[in-house]
Amino acid sequence: MPTNRGVVYQKPGVVTIESIDFPKLAIGKRKCHHGVILKIVSTNICGSDQHMVRGRTTAPAGLVLGHEITGEVIEAGRDVEFVKVGDIVSVPFNIACGRCRNCKEGKTGICLNVNPARPGAAYGYVDMGGWVGGQAEYVMVPYADFNLLRFPDRDQALAKIKDLTLLSDIFPTGYHGAVSAGVGPGTIVYVAGAGPVGLACAASCHLLGAACVIVGDLIPERLKQARSFGCETVDLRASASLAQQIEQIVGVPEVDAAVDCVGFEARGHGKDAAVERPATVLNSIMEVTRAGGALGIPGLYVTGDPGGVDDNAKVGMLGIRIGLGWAKSHCFTTGQCPVMRYHRQLMQCILHDKIQIAKAVNVKVISFEDSPKGYQDFDKGAARKFVIDPHGMLAAG
Ligand SMILES: NC(=O)c1ccc[n+]([C@@H]2O[C@H](COP(=O)([O-])OP(=O)(O)OC[C@H]3O[C@@H](n4cnc5c(N)ncnc54)[C@H](O)[C@@H]3O)[C@@H](O)[C@H]2O)c1
Ligand SMILES: [Zn+2]
Ligand SMILES: [Zn+2]
Repeated sequence: MPTNRGVVYQKPGVVTIESIDFPKLAIGKRKCHHGVILKIVSTNICGSDQHMVRGRTTAPAGLVLGHEITGEVIEAGRDVEFVKVGDIVSVPFNIACGRCRNCKEGKTGICLNVNPARPGAAYGYVDMGGWVGGQAEYVMVPYADFNLLRFPDRDQALAKIKDLTLLSDIFPTGYHGAVSAGVGPGTIVYVAGAGPVGLACAASCHLLGAACVIVGDLIPERLKQARSFGCETVDLRASASLAQQIEQIVGVPEVDAAVDCVGFEARGHGKDAAVERPATVLNSIMEVTRAGGALGIPGLYVTGDPGGVDDNAKVGMLGIRIGLGWAKSHCFTTGQCPVMRYHRQLMQCILHDKIQIAKAVNVKVISFEDSPKGYQDFDKGAARKFVIDPHGMLAAG
């Protein structure tokens, strides 16, 4: 039996590399004939992982992390018809059965059959069905024919792997944020957050034809990264309000569309920049978005947060000024990105050089041994997207 290693959450601030079981084509005691085993080519660290690693969720010790997976199929179950051993594939972070009502409607982020506790599942994530994570050497993927996106050519895929690795989550997620905010040709859009999701969203806004993409954050290095590919930026530590800074850029204190790429660990603005204000981004995007505009909210909000700022925040109840949003007839879209809705088209944009997404989010490839350090550096706010290379395949390329 080959061996396997995984990146494991131990306690707030601590992840370690541990020996873990080699995956089997099984879900508990049940055989999983529709699954495949992947040798992992690349697996990325995400801001969503950080919520767990900072102790801001109810994630248990011992959880094998990792939901952003690209791999090579090394074994296929009896009922896998179309995916073949040797294929290089992108794995949507959402696990979906392809058979339930929501999957049939394309809502693969809230599949009804993959998590007994609630709709929606993911690899290596708290409350997401107990599926083993893919920051590992090998992982099992169920419902493989439905879930996997096969890259057309192995050599081409490995040559563009730093871009293609972003198809498992942040590129579709950022793009979904932009699409759900109604971004199209000529749009003026505000993207809150210049982490990897915010940067992927900003690059997606350009791809969709936005006239002006304004990115806000409190970390200068990340704002600089946003400017490197043509975004305007606002520094939310400044005393000028978000609306005032937007006015300085576009002449009016208003945008057509806005996307929250921050989530519940949001910092306050101006004099509150050092403290957590979980509803700040939601309230500020309602404030600056024009009446009739739409808000994309890929930033994560949780149902349980042991570190919440007050008793309400601990159960995900935030002080949102819904009256303002209502008065402006805003509509908003929350939830997991249904990755499969977008990943094929975005793969083609990468393969045909329509976008330099790895460059936009500043991908840095790290060895498996360096994953704990990658977590630390990312937590400090490095303007990087860390991509783990478990078998040295990226380093070799
Ligand atoms: N919906 C989905 O499917 C999905 C998928 C992936 C990630 N996410 C979520 O998207 C969010 C961003 O992910 P990431 O990897 O970029 O994380 P990240 O933590 O690297 O980035 C968040 C950024 O927001 C900034 N920020 C904090 N307060 C702010 C404020 N008030 N205004 C503007 N910026 C502020 C931080 O400085 C940081 O740079 C996370 O909540 C993550 O869980 C959701
Ligand atoms: Zn992710
Ligand atoms: Zn389903």
